Amino acid sequence: MKESERGAERHGIAVIDLGGQYCHMIARRLGDLGVAAEIFPHDAKRAALARFAGIILSGGPQSVYDPASPGIDADILGLDVPLLGICYGHQLLAKLLGAEVAAGSAEYGKATLHLRHHDSLFHGTPEQQTVWMSHADSVQALPVGMERLAETESCAVAAFGDIAQKRFGVQFHPEVAHTEHGGEMLRNFALGICGLRRQEPVKDRVQRLVHEVRERAGNRSVFFFVSGGVDSTVAFALTARALPAERVLGLYVDTGLMRKHETAELRGLLDTIGLGDRLRIRDESARFLRALQGVIEPEEKRRIIGRLFIEVQQSAMEELGVDGNAWLLGQGTIYPDTIESGGASGTAALIKTHHNRCEEVRKLIAEGKVIEPLAEFYKDQVRELGRALGLDARLTERWPFPGPGLAIRCLCTNDTRAVAPIELAPDFRPYRAVHFPIRSVGVQGDGRTYREVVALEGAPDYERLQRISVALCNTGRAYNRVVLRVGGRAGDLAAGRVVPATLDRARLDLLREADYLARRIMEEGGIAQSVWQFPVVLIPVSFREGESIVLRPINSEDGMTANFARLPAPVLTEIADAIAALPGIDAVFLDITDKPPATIEWE
Ligand code: XMP
Repeated sequence: MKESERGAERHGIAVIDLGGQYCHMIARRLGDLGVAAEIFPHDAKRAALARFAGIILSGGPQSVYDPASPGIDADILGLDVPLLGICYGHQLLAKLLGAEVAAGSAEYGKATLHLRHHDSLFHGTPEQQTVWMSHADSVQALPVGMERLAETESCAVAAFGDIAQKRFGVQFHPEVAHTEHGGEMLRNFALGICGLRRQEPVKDRVQRLVHEVRERAGNRSVFFFVSGGVDSTVAFALTARALPAERVLGLYVDTGLMRKHETAELRGLLDTIGLGDRLRIRDESARFLRALQGVIEPEEKRRIIGRLFIEVQQSAMEELGVDGNAWLLGQGTIYPDTIESGGASGTAALIKTHHNRCEEVRKLIAEGKVIEPLAEFYKDQVRELGRALGLDARLTERWPFPGPGLAIRCLCTNDTRAVAPIELAPDFRPYRAVHFPIRSVGVQGDGRTYREVVALEGAPDYERLQRISVALCNTGRAYNRVVLRVGGRAGDLAAGRVVPATLDRARLDLLREADYLARRIMEEGGIAQSVWQFPVVLIPVSFREGESIVLRPINSEDGMTANFARLPAPVLTEIADAIAALPGIDAVFLDITDKPPATIEWE
């Protein structure tokens, strides 16, 4: 260690951003533990990092053997501080320590980790545990001086380390909620190995956030987009707490892509917190539907919707006599919106452009005209802030609904290919499988995929289905999503075909009705809160005269990782039967894919 780096007291953890989807989440998890964390770009120098008590190398979408992939200042290895590499960071650390990294045995989503060492990083966690993976490359042999700490069936070096040198690498993601004991591992690293202490919980941050909104707004007012979702409503309520009422105005745009009864529900909810009269409502459905006519590509839909929101906001401001220089645009953007849209640092991959991160919004941000009080938070933290602000549980506990609404749940195509049978491995029989020639968005190895779908037929044995789904998406590059037939009058699945379909009112109405039925049955059964979110998707796969519906109930903590929800069989049947009875619906499927490899929304 250098003389200048000696003696100073070390605080917090530096997280080096190598472009991973979950980089910021590492910092967030550390924040939950009450440990300060700061994110640095990959080319940060040793001198900038010397004041930290520990360093974590994040995941990333690239391959460490690719010459253009991001590296770190190799001098960092000379610092006498604990080091933890995660996924790409694990592979990079292995490479810097002389081991080979190569393509092979991809794993996306759930994997079972077997520990060989229970001390240090894995202290207090069981010998066999579930971890979440997202990688196509692997460390081929142990770096010199490192021990194998854990393995999975297809990843021999799932964790390596040396307790004395305090260096560790894990191929899986301890920071995501789906890694069962990930929180304990990060706590072991931060509090145990790095020797740090705890600080402030989320709800105490309300006062600090109110202060930040006042500072940021100065003497300007805030014109908010309110969608009825948790994020925008919490951001709106927070801003209304920070500024006098006349300086906060909410705009709700009825895009024609909303859920049934959405507008009335939102007005009622805002009335309960005394903000009803601060809301303006505009019906722009004709404009949105016109612009989306004939659009098939999910990213194009998202760009158009983002642009229209800004156009509508500008004309609404003109009509209301609001001066653009005296007002800021308020948005309920949360952290996953930013990272999935390609991140702030530019190293993360674009998974999907969230409506509040389209080009027009980015331009306004660059001009300093946007305020986003929740931009550093995740959904579960936003809910906690909402509760701390006294918001009704009907609001804070609502299922998330994306800004682009039903548009990204209504798949369009001009294809007419037939559904084709595919051969399943002998282990997976008697399930039968077909291939649907339609594509949906996935996140695999921290990068975006746009791949086709496998549909299965067989018993709803969730554990077997999970294994089949993982195997189909881990092998080859064809699929990122698997569904199971749960209802309808489709007959032989292999007789299906894709039908040309666009975003029109009739299809949106059909989807809205199916979405409403699923929601109502979950609410009436008292189990709406047993799932985190429940998208319902219309796919242009026809077996008779109509199309098909996919149910996508998932469980998650923050939307960054998810597992398909195991709905009780009677509820699943009730929902499937109710939807299959709608004229125009031939078949109902259940999405049985985790995130990764599939994203929560199909587009
Ligand atoms: P994905 O589909 O990427 O979604 O797994 C993660 C979470 O984000 C929501 N989502 C959005 N929310 N604007 C939003 O406000 C968007 O453009 C958007 N796209 C996805 C999604 O519903 C899920 O909760």
